[in-house]
Amino acid sequence: MKTASVVGASGFTGGELLRLLESHPEFEVVQATSRSYENKTVGSVHPNLRGMGLRFSDPGDLESVDVLFACTPHGVSMEHIDAYREAADTVVDLSADFRLDSEAQYEEYYDGHDRPELLADAEYALPELNRENLRGADIVASGGCNATAAILGLKPLFDDGILGGDERIVVDVKVGSSEGGAGGGEASSHPERSGVVRPYAPTGHRHEAEIEQFLGTSVSFTAHAVDMTRGASATCHVYPDSPVSKGDLWGAFRESYEDEPFVRLVAGGSGVYRYPEPKAVAGSNYAEVGFELDPGNRRVVVFSAIDNMMKGSAGQAVHAANVALGFEETAGLEFTGLHPVGAP
Ligand SMILES: NC(=O)c1ccc[n+]([C@@H]2O[C@H](COP(=O)([O-])OP(=O)(O)OC[C@H]3O[C@@H](n4cnc5c(N)ncnc54)[C@H](OP(=O)(O)O)[C@@H]3O)[C@@H](O)[C@H]2O)c1
Repeated sequence: MKTASVVGASGFTGGELLRLLESHPEFEVVQATSRSYENKTVGSVHPNLRGMGLRFSDPGDLESVDVLFACTPHGVSMEHIDAYREAADTVVDLSADFRLDSEAQYEEYYDGHDRPELLADAEYALPELNRENLRGADIVASGGCNATAAILGLKPLFDDGILGGDERIVVDVKVGSSEGGAGGGEASSHPERSGVVRPYAPTGHRHEAEIEQFLGTSVSFTAHAVDMTRGASATCHVYPDSPVSKGDLWGAFRESYEDEPFVRLVAGGSGVYRYPEPKAVAGSNYAEVGFELDPGNRRVVVFSAIDNMMKGSAGQAVHAANVALGFEETAGLEFTGLHPVGAP
């Protein structure tokens, strides 16, 4: 067994990580930190974890572990990265602090970066995108939820050459309230969120940088806050230069994902769930991707759905840690979501 700690364990992604690590065959959680809930049991904050016999401790007093998962707000990991690396052989950061390649990107999209010299040491985790480099990595930057949904949907079109990089791409993401974290504020409070389909980042969303970096082209990105607790659904409109058939699209998506353990292809068929749907993956590490052709407009519409708390954060982080440490990739993540289920 390898030892693991979760910094920022009282938050949403921290709680989800504790849930995953608790039943993981290769990890034993030895520390969960929270400044606000020090000495309280993890079950007192995360009711699904009642009985887990672990208490929150101070992040200033880190134990020595094999893997440290940082589930902290933007800016915390870059400030404490030396302490994290001293405490752990592998640091998996769920924040955006090490996702981008250059200080210039952090200047443009965030408030700069404290430790730009470390950016080159970090490996980005979508495992589907960067598996080989993740093996043995000592800083892993787990991908953002909106970016994960968009990249997974669009990647087959680039892999296959259907898109070359000069075409217009519009990405529209709808995301649930847990994306804002446990302290999500007014925008995520129940009365303000209930019944909402609210554009909250019509332009200039920070994840645009992440998507562009990893697809190598510019995208026009818009995000909506919707009345779900979990889930991110990306609808991507693309306009290939050359005519494309449905067969071409099936070929491209199958080629990219037939060997991927956590990506399911859902495109048409019968019944209610004919396209990717956050509800169908809620609570699981699966992503669903699919497409539809609009020949009259020379448009391809790509759909992608994930659970932002799983494939968009904690599940992706565990998947990446499995790869980094050489475990079975699917260890601790091989379960489906629930059906039927209420609003996830
Ligand atoms: N929610 C999502 O869907 C999602 C998806 C992908 C990525 N992420 C990223 O994952 C990170 C965590 O997100 P979240 O939704 O879990 O946030 P959250 O619910 O707000 O939790 C943040 C956690 O960090 C701790 N914390 C805050 N400031 C700290 C500091 N200075 N030092 C140590 N611990 C500190 C908090 O506990 P105390 O204040 O008690 O210490 C809390 O446990 C963020 O960077 C977020 O952008 C989130």
